[in-house]
Formats: sequence, C-alpha cells, structure tokens
Amino acid sequence: MTLSPADLPAVRAALLAWFDRAGRDLPWRVGAEGKRDPYRVWVSEVLLQQTQVARGRVYFERFLAAFPTVEALAAAPIEAVLKAWEGCGYYARARNLHRAAGVIVREGMPTTYGGWRALPGVGPYTAAAVASLAFGEARAVSDGNVRRVLARIHGERQPTSIWVQARADDLLDPARPGALNEAVMDLGATVCTPKNPRCPECPVSAWCAAFRSGEPAAFPAPKVRAAVREVRAVALLLGDEKEAVLERREGTLLGGLMGLPTEVVAEGTREEDTLARLAARLGATVTGELGRVTHTMTHRLVTLTVYGGQGGPERRPVADAALSRLDHKALELWRARQESLFAEV
Ligand code: ADE
Repeated sequence: MTLSPADLPAVRAALLAWFDRAGRDLPWRVGAEGKRDPYRVWVSEVLLQQTQVARGRVYFERFLAAFPTVEALAAAPIEAVLKAWEGCGYYARARNLHRAAGVIVREGMPTTYGGWRALPGVGPYTAAAVASLAFGEARAVSDGNVRRVLARIHGERQPTSIWVQARADDLLDPARPGALNEAVMDLGATVCTPKNPRCPECPVSAWCAAFRSGEPAAFPAPKVRAAVREVRAVALLLGDEKEAVLERREGTLLGGLMGLPTEVVAEGTREEDTLARLAARLGATVTGELGRVTHTMTHRLVTLTVYGGQGGPERRPVADAALSRLDHKALELWRARQESLFAEV
C-alpha cells in the first residue's frame, strides 16, 4: 500500500507543524532556516553519521571549540584534528574533513549539492544535508531514521536504499526542504523509534500503514547483519595513565591512530607467544596482566588483554595523542588497579 501523491501536501504540513512545535534544540541548529552556517552543518552531519545525537552534541562542541571556522580547521596539523576527533571512531572521516577544509579555503565554500559532493569524503547524505540546511536546496536526506519512518508510513518491510531515496524525494517540501529533512530525522529519533514507537504522539499516524497494521515495530524487517568477526589482541602498558609508550597503529585495527603497543593474536597462535613477541620487539619485560577489555567496531569484536611491563622505549604524554576508545578502556584498567591497590593498603 503506497501513500497517495494526493496525501503528500497534508503529510508534509503535519510533519512541519510537529517539527516547529517539537523539533529538538541542537547546537548546530542556529541561524535562519535554510541559511545555517555550512561549516557547522557539515561537521555535525559527519559526526552524526557515527554517533547518536546525545553523544554527538558533546563531540560537536569539542570539535568546534578546537576549530571554530573552516579556516582554523584547514590550518591545523592533522594530529590536532585527530585529537579533537578522539573517541568518535572512523578516523578516515576526520582526515577527509581536514582535506576538504583545505580545498574549501583554496577554492571557496561550495553552495550547491554538486559542489559539496565533489569534496573528499562528502557522500550523498552529507551533501543533501548541507545543501538543504545551509542553502535551502531541495535535496532529500536518507539515513537510518528516514528509512524507518518511510518504511512504516508506506508499509514496506524490505526498503532498498533506492526506494528510500525515491520516497524521501517525493515527500520533500520544496519550500522548506531543510526543515522537512530534520522533521523526519527527529521523528525517527524521538517518536518513530525502532522499538516501542510512540504512535499516539505521531503527527502522521493517520497516513501510516504500519500503524494501521497494529504492529508498527515490525517495519522495516530486521536487516540480516554481516557476521561479526572476533579479534583477539594483546597490548603492553609501559608507563602509566599519564605517560606511556605509544605507537602509531598500522593495518586495519584502528590504523593511523596512536595507541598502546598492540599485536593481533593470529588464528591458531597462542596469546603468550604473541605477547612474548611484542615484548621482545619493544625490548620490554612483562610484569603481569592488568585485565581484559572488549570493543565493538562495525564488523569486529576486539578482545584486548592488557599487560603491564617494564623497560622499552621512551614514554610519551598520553594526553597529547589521539587515542581510540579501546586505548582509553585499556588505560582505565590501570587506573582501576591503582584504586584497588590503594583500597587494600
Ligand atoms: N541526525 C543526523 N543529522 C541530523 C539532523 N540534522 N537533525 C536531526 N537528526 C539528525
């Protein structure tokens, strides 16, 4: 069952009236509708591709405090950008932000969807968000929230990305494209939630096929997830939470970031052997196990066993380096251990 084109004006009006009343107050939503600061919109949208709004807000304030303008971002060394991105994951996005900021400073701020799309790391979602929110261009965004809202309204269990984009394009309000985009995203985040949607509060339940079905949460059908690969690794903490031996990671496990010296335990290899090789490479001796931390990435579950040790290369200030959340969890083990040692005294 498809929403009739004749219903679209009423659905748009209901969404916009709801958004004007109940839309969220977020730090990047400053400035007149369709005329927001493109830099703030861009940074926020890149951040929000990988984090929930609550956490994204904190990261956004931190990033903007470090780089208030695109000129400041372009002028900064990449290490400082990675440091400000710390904890946000997907560090390639921070590298692309930095590269694109360089292009913007040299060639000017793009003002159209096509112009944004041409920048490094800017995909259809980000370009549509910036074009609609900062320049009032009629471009529909399609993300996870939009997918769920549209699947439910239309009663589609298996929405493909092409289908979602087409339905989002149909629904877009030509007069208020940015507001309509954010209305659908906010509705998905606060009312049309994955589990237990709040249909009585929904401005468009009258047009919603999933609501009529009596089982709104059954739309869309759950995605079949790619298998999560389990990765075991060992790390050596040489030093303490303030000063430790740090290395630049290589390969696919958080490659490019600084972190505690780490080795992945290869399939069929014993953890002790991997640890011994790591210690030998650093010229260090292992003093004992500090504990184990786990970290979930998109397709991987990493279990890292952290050991304390002595010797090895020069320690560096931990606070200056861009570390992944995995490393922060590992350092947290050291802190927890110090606290328990004090508690025993
Ligand atoms: N999620 C990502 N971008 C968003 C935005 N601009 N408004 C609401 N939710 C979002």
